Amino acid sequence: ATHPQIITLLSKMTLVEKIGQMSQCSGCGGFLSDELAEHIRSGSVGSVINEVNLDVLNEMQRIAVEESRLGIPLLIGRDVIHGFKTIFPIPLGQAASWSVEVIKSGARVSALEAASVGVNWTFAPMIDISRDPRWGRVAESLGEDPYLCSVLGEAMITGFQGDSLSANGSIASCAKHFAGYGAAESGRDYNTASISENELRNVYLPPFKAAAKAGAATFMSAFNELNGIPATGNEWLMKQVLREEWGFKGFIVSDWESIKQLTTHGFSEDEKMAAFEAINAGIDMEMVSTSYQQHLESLIDEGKVKLSVVDDMVTRILTLKHELGLFEQPFTDPEQLPPVLNSSHLSAAKEAATKSCVLLKNHNNILPLTKSDIGSIAVIGPLADDGYEQLGTWIFDGEAEHSITCLEALKSYAEQELNITFSQGLATSRSEQQDGFDEAVDLAHGSDIVLMFLGEESILSGEAHCRSNIDLPGAQEQLIEAVAATGKSIVLVVMAGRPLTLTSIIDKVDAILYAWHPGTMGGPAITDLLFGVSAPSGKLPITFPRAVGQIPLYYSQKNTGKPATDESYVHMKDIPARAQQTSLGMAATHLDTHFSPLFPFGFGLSYSELEYSDIQVSPSSISLGESVTISAQITNVGRQDCEEVVQLYVRDLVGNVTRPVKELKGFQRIVLNQGDTQRVTFTLHTNDLAFHDRKMVFKAEPGLFHVWIGGDSETNLRTEFTITRDGM
Ligand code: IFM
Repeated sequence: ATHPQIITLLSKMTLVEKIGQMSQCSGCGGFLSDELAEHIRSGSVGSVINEVNLDVLNEMQRIAVEESRLGIPLLIGRDVIHGFKTIFPIPLGQAASWSVEVIKSGARVSALEAASVGVNWTFAPMIDISRDPRWGRVAESLGEDPYLCSVLGEAMITGFQGDSLSANGSIASCAKHFAGYGAAESGRDYNTASISENELRNVYLPPFKAAAKAGAATFMSAFNELNGIPATGNEWLMKQVLREEWGFKGFIVSDWESIKQLTTHGFSEDEKMAAFEAINAGIDMEMVSTSYQQHLESLIDEGKVKLSVVDDMVTRILTLKHELGLFEQPFTDPEQLPPVLNSSHLSAAKEAATKSCVLLKNHNNILPLTKSDIGSIAVIGPLADDGYEQLGTWIFDGEAEHSITCLEALKSYAEQELNITFSQGLATSRSEQQDGFDEAVDLAHGSDIVLMFLGEESILSGEAHCRSNIDLPGAQEQLIEAVAATGKSIVLVVMAGRPLTLTSIIDKVDAILYAWHPGTMGGPAITDLLFGVSAPSGKLPITFPRAVGQIPLYYSQKNTGKPATDESYVHMKDIPARAQQTSLGMAATHLDTHFSPLFPFGFGLSYSELEYSDIQVSPSSISLGESVTISAQITNVGRQDCEEVVQLYVRDLVGNVTRPVKELKGFQRIVLNQGDTQRVTFTLHTNDLAFHDRKMVFKAEPGLFHVWIGGDSETNLRTEFTITRDGM
């Protein structure tokens, strides 16, 4: 029920004041212009985006509550995506931790720090299913899988919002971008998304449904069109799915000028119609463009929009302000919150970076390094000592000066015991200029081992920063070749905002640690991992393709009528000249690359060795409405203690619509010391196996299910169970 204070307030508001609440405008970046102050005073602004100066924000709130007619405080929005001052790994990196605790604590720290300057609303989590690493915003996503993305998205919401929105240090979250933004054609940002309703409901919408259930305060409509209708004008998405089916009570904000862009899409003939379509779709607040300000009054006068619709929207916005406690306390006193960049925030960021790194290759167990075995290290690469580039995309407020780089951390770890030399080799990750190669090669010659820090600078991923080729950019591959020619062992640390195609360099290096953009504490986290002070435990939240042409490539693909198999697979280099055959395996794959990925979803090595065995299911036959228990034994047979992410996958063999060959249904992060064995148990209810069928009915179907437990999505430790038909 609406709070009485809001009912009273609404009854006093003029239409202009109501439209004001539905409008978000941009701050001026560190000062308050007379124009913005006047807008706030006149009640024509409900929210401000992109101002983080404490004094300016307190002054804005003062004008809003003391000088505007009704004294309504402001929502202050900011993209706090993976940290405010203390920067955590990019969200895709955090997702590689497969850790609810890591994600939650990252969001909590972000909320505390952002709240300390007066921000009370963030535009995160981004829970767009992302299966195209060319897309720059894959960096901001939680990966390719609906289940993982749902669980981690929920954790992020809880971290931002805390137990209560009104508590000091809680900020409102925003589930974005609703919906289908990650399916942009060929990974070009903002592009058309064509997704069947069935796929939308089974793959793209589940994280949003989970976010609504987890209490996300707000949703953001996406920039893209979805099946011909721009999301911001999509009544079916907002009203039917989000509000009616899922019962979402919070408010929906447009993306930046996405209402105005309805005209550019060719969906609305002018901005007035755009305002109409957006209102009709259920967009409660307009971000930055002014279509509502300009046209809503006349749309109401003309009877095209009902006042009651506007009242409902304003009520939702005021309700969030009330829930945030802004009517009682609109001002921010930073003394009430922990200081930014304090040691506990930095150690949470280090923990997140540690758990996010994925060990992809470790030939002859070259890692972890031991100080006493090596006298000298050549550190090479443009990303070894760059405090800015390790932060990644979407860091409006993070500063390079607070970063600890890998070179700094290595030097401090080495103390006097190791001789560390450094050469960038290349000016930036994109450089083609090879004039730094000689110095790098000389250093490699003179050292016992080479640590290379390569990948992508921050600017190469993020919004509108998409790539058609996802190899290491610039002359980095040539740099690897030049260094490899010295015969020295190479450990490659990759920092990047996306999966890169590593096929052509994988055999030229001995180990690969994938660090994404690891954030402020990337250096110490990576140094500890390299020297075994901590052990890698990250797992890929997204498939790594061999070649860009395989995209989209994801583990939960459909089987097709002609699935590719190792037996039938033929690579074109093996086809004899002037081959007379017309059929080559007749399977769903390419001729010039194997059908498998370079690294599968869920993959990640540790410094130890794990054996999965004895998978058991009980009972082996259940009815709808019942649960089944699946367990397996995991033994650490290696020579190190480790943490492992144990994964549960299911295949529903026959469906009313075809089902994926594997679907993640559970995971657990466990600690397993050397020599220890642990039985890990999962429980699945038949509701967990439900999907939208061809009539979009959401239900589980009786039949046979394969179930696997393992350390990645290619596990073959399998058993099965049946959901019986009634009476059978
Ligand atoms: O939150 C973002 C969104 O993800 C992309 N466009 C701008 C918004 C606000 O900065």
